[in-house]
Amino acid sequence: MKFNVTINQPHYRDETLLLGIFENAPSLSGAAARFDALTNGLISSLVRNGEFSAKLNQTLPLIPVPQEIACRVLLVGLGKEQEFSLHRLRSACATGARSVRDHAGRRIALPCDFTVHPACPLPNRIRAYVEGVQLGLYRFQQFKTKNKVSSPNDPDQCTIYLSDAHLHRQIRDEVKKASTIADAVCLARDLVNLPSNVATPSFLAAQARSLAKTSGIRCKVLDAKNAQQLGMHAFLSVARGSDEPPQFIVLEYRPRTKKHLKPVVLIGKAVTFDSGGISLKPAKDMDEMKNDMAGGAAVFAVIQACAHLALPIPVVGFIPAAENLPSGHALKPGDIITTMSGTTVEIITTDAEGRLLLADALTYAQRYKPAAIIDIATLTGACVIALGNEAAGLMGTDDRLLRMIMSAADATGERVWELPLWAEYDELLKSDVADIKNAGGRPAGAITAGCFLKHFAGATAWAHLDIAGTAWTKKSLPLAPKGATGAGVRLLISVLERWNQCDS
Ligand code: BES
Ligand code: MN
Ligand code: ZN
Repeated sequence: MKFNVTINQPHYRDETLLLGIFENAPSLSGAAARFDALTNGLISSLVRNGEFSAKLNQTLPLIPVPQEIACRVLLVGLGKEQEFSLHRLRSACATGARSVRDHAGRRIALPCDFTVHPACPLPNRIRAYVEGVQLGLYRFQQFKTKNKVSSPNDPDQCTIYLSDAHLHRQIRDEVKKASTIADAVCLARDLVNLPSNVATPSFLAAQARSLAKTSGIRCKVLDAKNAQQLGMHAFLSVARGSDEPPQFIVLEYRPRTKKHLKPVVLIGKAVTFDSGGISLKPAKDMDEMKNDMAGGAAVFAVIQACAHLALPIPVVGFIPAAENLPSGHALKPGDIITTMSGTTVEIITTDAEGRLLLADALTYAQRYKPAAIIDIATLTGACVIALGNEAAGLMGTDDRLLRMIMSAADATGERVWELPLWAEYDELLKSDVADIKNAGGRPAGAITAGCFLKHFAGATAWAHLDIAGTAWTKKSLPLAPKGATGAGVRLLISVLERWNQCDS
C-alpha cells in the first residue's frame, strides 16, 4: 500500500472518498459536513431517514455521486462521539478500507478531517488512519494457487488530503512512521501464518540474516554447538525430539548516536511448532500451534521497525527458536536439566517448553547489562482462560517498566492486564528433587509461568507479556482477518518510542 500526502485540491476522480460519521450527532462535522453542503444535504437526509445510523463500523457506499465531486463515496460509521477513541477510529478506517476492496475500488482518498474530535490531535488521527487502512487490508495468500482472491486488484494507494500546507511535512513524516509500523505488524503476521514446515528455526535464522544485511542490524545466530558451549541446556532440551536444529537468533540494533546507552533486550518465544512433545497435546486445534513463534515474530518485526524508524536507543532482540516434537531423543517428564544459570529444573510436562527456552534467554541477556528486559510469548493456555482474546497478560518486577507498557497499551489499543507475581505463588514451583519444577499445576497457570521466568530475570528490570490469547484470531476482526494478528508489535514499538523520555 502506497500512502501519499497532498495539499492539492481534491478531485477524487478515480478514488473512493471515505467520510466518517458520528452516530446521533446533532450535526455533521469535518469532511462529511463539507460534502453534505456540496450535495444539498445528501448525507443529512440519509441519516435523518434512518438509512445510515453511523454505528461503529457500519458502511454505506454512495454510488453514483455527482461526477465533479468524486467517483465514489463511502460513509463509515464512527459510533457515538462520546465513546470515540483512537482504537475505534483505527477500526473504522480498517473497515472502510476493506469495504473499498469489496467494491473493487483501487484507490482510497482520506481527507485529514475524515473525523474531527476535540480530544484527538491531527497527528494521532493520521496514525490511526494509516494503521487502520493497512492492517485492515492485510491478507495471507502466498499458498493459494487457484481462486486467489484477486490481490492484484486490491486497493494499492491511499491519498491523505490536507487543507493546511504548513502541516505537509509533519504529516508526511507521521504517515511514513505509521506505515513503517504497520509494515512491521504485517511482517509479524506473515511469519506467524507461515506453516511450520516452512517457518522452521533455520528459516527464521535465514530471515534474520537477510534483514541484517539490508538494514544495518547485527545478526548473530547461535547453533546447537554454540548453545552447548554456553550451557544452554534448557533451550536445547526443547529441540531434542525434533530433526530441525534449534537456532538462538540475536539481532542487535544500535542507533547512530547514543550508542553508549544500555540496551533494551526483547526476547520472543519462537517454538515453530508446539506438539507438546512427549506430553503430547490433544489433536483438536493442534494445527494452531504453528503460532507458537508469535513472540519471536513480534521481536523480529520490532527490530526491523527500530532500524527503519531510526529509534535513538539500542535494542537487542533474542529469538530462541526450536520445534517441540516427541521422539526417541525427546525430553521426558521427570527429566532434570541444568539451565545456563546453573539452576536445575525438574520437567513435569514437556508441554511447558516455552519457559525453558526463555529461561536461558533471560540468563544470556544479562551479558548485555540491559536497562530492561521484556519477553513476549504465547506462553500459557491459562492466560487465555483468564483474559480471553481481549488482552495480553502482563507480569514483571519493575513498576516503572510495567507502567510504561500500560501507557503504550492505552496509546496503541493493544490491551494488557497485569497479573500479580506474589511470593506465595513461588511455592507452587517447589520441586522435591531439583531447584524448581517447570509447571505448577492448573491453579494460576499464567502466573506460575511468570514466576518461573522471574527466577531467571534476576535483578534486572523485567516484564513478561503472555500473548497466548491475542496472537491468533479464530474470527475476522476489523484490524485483522482470521489467523495471526501481529500482537505486541505496535505495543513494543510504542514502549521503545517512549524510552528516551526516561533515563536508562
Ligand atoms: N504454547 C502453549 C501455550 C498456548 C496454548 C498458546 C494455547 C496458545 C494457545 C504452551 O507451550 C503450553 O503448552 N503451555 C501449557 C503449560 C502447562 C502444561 C503448564 C498450557 O498452557 O497448557
Ligand atoms: Mn507447550
Ligand atoms: Zn508452547
